[in-house]
Amino acid sequence: MNYCFTLIRLKYIIVNFELVAKVIAFHSYKGGTGKTTLAVNLSANLVSKGYNVLLIDMDVYAPSLYVYFDIQPKKWINDYLNDKISFCDSIYDFSHVIEEFHSGTLIKDTCGSFHAVFSNPSKQEITDLDSVMRKDSSKSQMLKKMLFLKETGIAETDYDFIILDTSPGIRYWSINSLAISDTIFLSLKMDNIDIEGTKHMAMDVYGSFTSYGTTSYLLLNRVAGYCEPPVLLDSSNSVYGENSSSFSALVLEQNETIKNLEKLIKMDVVSMIPCYCDMQFERQEYLTALKNPDHPFSKKIDELSKKIE
Ligand SMILES: Nc1ncnc2c1ncn2[C@@H]1O[C@H](COP(=O)(O)OP(=O)(O)O)[C@@H](O)[C@H]1O
Ligand SMILES: [Mg+2]
Repeated sequence: MNYCFTLIRLKYIIVNFELVAKVIAFHSYKGGTGKTTLAVNLSANLVSKGYNVLLIDMDVYAPSLYVYFDIQPKKWINDYLNDKISFCDSIYDFSHVIEEFHSGTLIKDTCGSFHAVFSNPSKQEITDLDSVMRKDSSKSQMLKKMLFLKETGIAETDYDFIILDTSPGIRYWSINSLAISDTIFLSLKMDNIDIEGTKHMAMDVYGSFTSYGTTSYLLLNRVAGYCEPPVLLDSSNSVYGENSSSFSALVLEQNETIKNLEKLIKMDVVSMIPCYCDMQFERQEYLTALKNPDHPFSKKIDELSKKIE
């Protein structure tokens, strides 16, 4: 009860506070809907356009963000939340990654800064953080730490965007992340279990955030129907190209799906991203938006980034 009260009060403080940075959370009902992939690629896209971005792995139950950066971090968000280090000390600077990818195509100075904070995948750390949140006395404290994180990001480090990769479902750490967010992208795959679960989560949880000014959107990802290597999505291709009859039928069908889904969940669909087989079966996760900017997935990420700029 005390926790709920703090949550509502916190939301009130946030909407009455002049904020510069936009906090964007990627959330979902089920796992594997692409939250981490979308969060990291959107961040990279924004940095390439000159924005300063802080990306935080708040999926404290199943962290995976560090994999994209190919490092073994020594400091984690867990250390900050457990009072072992300051928030600023948990931040890694990856601005050089963007600059390296763009060398020759972009003037270095046009990129923004790219900072990331990782969550510790060790079993002990996950259990420790979970048990902290089970104590009633710590819940409000942890929420304040999240708010502090947002304020520090804005006041001291001048970020344009803080992007949170959250845990699926409605566990405490996801709720804390959503509580400090201005925009939430609720990603889902088009299967019945996900749609049904997302509908309930949207009704039960999102209403309280949206009434305090948070905007939330559905983001359909890994949508079936296109599951072909990107080369077949080329408009010159007679089977899946944009001029083909099968492509037009697919677009019509999917527009109808979007309309029905928006009516059912009472939330607008911000984007519909197909399932690209080459990404799905790649053994190593990497930043497609940087490595392959002409990939249709990168184009979708760019469209999404234009909507939040
Ligand atoms: N549009 C997409 N097409 C194909 N594969 C995708 C797409 N989006 C994500 N994936 C893949 O799906 C898997 C799960 O994505 P991930 O971002 O880890 O999901 P989550 O963070 O929601 O658990 C990863 O292997 C990722 O590469
Ligand atoms: Mg993830």
